[in-house]
Amino acid sequence: MAYKNLMIETEEGIAILKINRPKVLNALNVETLEELQQALKEVEERKDVRVVILTGEGEKAFVAGADIVEMKDMTPAEAINFSRLGHTTLGMIENLSKPVIAAVNGYALGGGLEIALACDFIYASEGAKMGVPEVTLGIFPGFGGTQRLPRLIGKGRAKELIFTGEAIDAQTAYGLGIANKVFPSENLLEEVKKTARRIARNGPVAVSMAKESVNAGYDLGTEEGEAIEITTWANSYATYDQKEGMGAFLEKRKAQFKGE
Ligand code: CAA
Repeated sequence: MAYKNLMIETEEGIAILKINRPKVLNALNVETLEELQQALKEVEERKDVRVVILTGEGEKAFVAGADIVEMKDMTPAEAINFSRLGHTTLGMIENLSKPVIAAVNGYALGGGLEIALACDFIYASEGAKMGVPEVTLGIFPGFGGTQRLPRLIGKGRAKELIFTGEAIDAQTAYGLGIANKVFPSENLLEEVKKTARRIARNGPVAVSMAKESVNAGYDLGTEEGEAIEITTWANSYATYDQKEGMGAFLEKRKAQFKGE
């Protein structure tokens, strides 16, 4: 399908989803979020796609937040719908059966940082700036920032970022555990692709089950999380890829995974 505010490129088992509204620093309006949902359904269904990269078009921004022009005159009822749309879209990223890596290539502010936090992990460019400046607009993070950020970096650090609205640079984000790696901007996409290719070589069902196990257990107690791991792990023995992966190891050859 053709998109107005998004671009999808696929290569070697990797789909690159680019938010494409560079004139407004890739701000997320309703239309873009709806297109993103459609694109996520598309990559979920495509068997040739094993890993997804989410990034922003242009050199300046990943996503500079939800679209302030669209939000300015919202009623509370409209705001609920908008926040729900954001949450549903970010939930689709978080629960996609394939890994999603955020390539943060510039400003990731407000909804922009929140969408990156819904990805499985973040790589950032040296010049990236991340923050949740919503309080400077008289609102506060509404696409999951008050939930995902404290879980990732701890309550106190998250509150400091949320209450001050201050943006941090990529090295600080790395130090806080928001970005896993930082690269010069010209290398960012290639480095993200390298990691994506590495993941794409592994058993797709196993990677997917690992994502499911981490996500499902994250907010639970250790014992409940372990129970999820045991069941999900045992289910991996029902796959072709488990026979192929272990068979290939013992036959000293490269595994040919099918994703089934
Ligand atoms: N919504 C709508 N338009 C935006 C935007 C946004 N979030 N961010 C930037 N733009 C637009 C600007 O209005 C500007 O448009 P015009 O050319 O028509 O004036 C264009 O993008 C370029 O931006 P700037 O001229 O401001 O660029 P800059 O380099 O001077 O500043 C910036 C860059 C610091 C990122 C600045 O644009 C900025 O502060 N943007 C807003 C960031 C923000 O507050 N994000 C949070 C939004 S609220 C939210 O996300 C709610 C939620 O939790 C879901």
